[in-house]
Amino acid sequence: MDENTKQQIQRRRTFAIISHPDAGKTTLTEKLLLYGGAIQSAGSVKGKHGDKHATSDWMELEKQRGISVTSSVMQFEYEGYCINILDTPGHQDFSEDTYRTLMAADSAVMVIDAAKGIEPQTRKLFKVCAMRGIPIFTFINKMDREARDPFELLDELETEFGIGTYPMNWPISCGATFQGIYDRATRQVLTYDDFHAGRSRLETVAIPLEDEETLVERITETYLETLKEQAELLDGAGEEFDLGQVRKGKLSPVFFGSALNNFGVEQFLESFLRLTTSPLPRRNAEGGMVDPLDDHFSAFVFKIQANMNKAHRDRISFLRICSGKFQRGKEYYHLQGGKSLRLSRPQQMMAQERDVIDEAYAGDIIGVFDPGQFSIGDTVCEIGQNVRFAGIPTFAPEHFAIVEQIDSMKRKQFSKGMTEIAQEGAIQIFFYPNSGMERVVVGVIGMLQFDVLKFRMQSEYGVEYLRRDIAHELIRRVRNPEFNAEDYDLTSDTMWVKDVRGGDLLIFNGSWAVRWAEEKNPGLILAEFHQDIQEG
Ligand code: G4P
Repeated sequence: MDENTKQQIQRRRTFAIISHPDAGKTTLTEKLLLYGGAIQSAGSVKGKHGDKHATSDWMELEKQRGISVTSSVMQFEYEGYCINILDTPGHQDFSEDTYRTLMAADSAVMVIDAAKGIEPQTRKLFKVCAMRGIPIFTFINKMDREARDPFELLDELETEFGIGTYPMNWPISCGATFQGIYDRATRQVLTYDDFHAGRSRLETVAIPLEDEETLVERITETYLETLKEQAELLDGAGEEFDLGQVRKGKLSPVFFGSALNNFGVEQFLESFLRLTTSPLPRRNAEGGMVDPLDDHFSAFVFKIQANMNKAHRDRISFLRICSGKFQRGKEYYHLQGGKSLRLSRPQQMMAQERDVIDEAYAGDIIGVFDPGQFSIGDTVCEIGQNVRFAGIPTFAPEHFAIVEQIDSMKRKQFSKGMTEIAQEGAIQIFFYPNSGMERVVVGVIGMLQFDVLKFRMQSEYGVEYLRRDIAHELIRRVRNPEFNAEDYDLTSDTMWVKDVRGGDLLIFNGSWAVRWAEEKNPGLILAEFHQDIQEG
């Protein structure tokens, strides 16, 4: 590999920012973009208020609801690093996309509200990160407000998530009495003359912890005493810093700060970039690992987005480059399609704009127009290479509804829409065996996905339908060949459906119905829904 390509790959940092809604993910992302000079004013990334529009708000639905439904990628430069931030949806609802985005990241930044600690979605997202064993950095936000005790917050992370924590800095009080933060590596107290929510970095005064004379001029004495005690406690009783453990996702470096007021943000960004990894190797299902510094280009599709731009009706497939260098116009091989192809109009998100690009490197995400050839998890590589990426799981839906067409004149459009959207994998659509397509079962992870489906069926296929939510909540794959539900003793409300690939599934009204199926039918082989798409 030539030196330039190697350097380009090594300076890439691709990560996702995750949080429960309102913890401050958007604000932190915005500050990082501001520092990198990628956007000019605060508010550019916000999607919540008035006419400010979010960078990632492409779909009409997002604008109507003022939320970010899809995930996007933002690339910017900072002090020699080339940073790709993968944005995950920040609204109340979850989708498969949220999880899949994490499959494309090499590390994650978990934003936590200091007053609230771990919240339900932090928990869900953490699980996916832990499953992949990627480094997880924690930013405890909103220290300018009344916060929970920092020791208690660390304890919660450790006990709930079963990981070690290493506070990189330490807050000196919080809320109205907030005085600054203590940087453990340099043993300096960082104080600020003036908090502000603006774009520029904060004017920071750094004073060594030993320099008490200067410190007492800026920090209330009792807080200083407390800080000294706490710093000693951390050094004595806390975890050792171990980069190896950080890289394995077993030890989370923790930063306290306030995204809104800029404090702690710069220190966070700099430490984070230093400690996180350049693009990680990926498992090759054909055997071995794919090294990002391998000469040969390879990538996998982690997300398919329909209709991002009204002017183009095509879908855009997002590929995470895993090795080598991508060159526009070059012929590559689409493994699952068994065809060579040139990717048309490859694009990259440069903060606010989408640009057509000529080259991209391992760690980067590119979006390509896709007339329908790709499915989630597909591999694109150089001709003659034996690469097949493994490990994009599909997650079990948690809510189900029966969706029925209204207008029999639109039968074709209804079944085309449902089938195509099912193929994208953004929403799970199941079909009744031995019956027509006028009724299907839809499964989603977040209820909002029902709205996305409705909107897309209307706007892309011109179809209205009836939706009836059902109380069923558990889904299992059936591993028996030639399965027919009528041959088994199942509760009357258990539903037998097929997925888009023809696989058999059972949807149950509750865990007791699953138990019934298992107990009454010793020959029935049920498996978790969750599986690797590529193995499915
Ligand atoms: P999210 O993407 O994780 O959903 O959170 P977001 O950044 O949108 O932040 C949620 C709310 O919390 C916003 O207030 C934001 O201004 C506020 N916030 C973020 N970081 C901090 C912080 O460090 N300190 C304080 N005090 N507040 C913070 P909002 O009222 O919903 O929106 P806005 O009117 O401020 O834009």
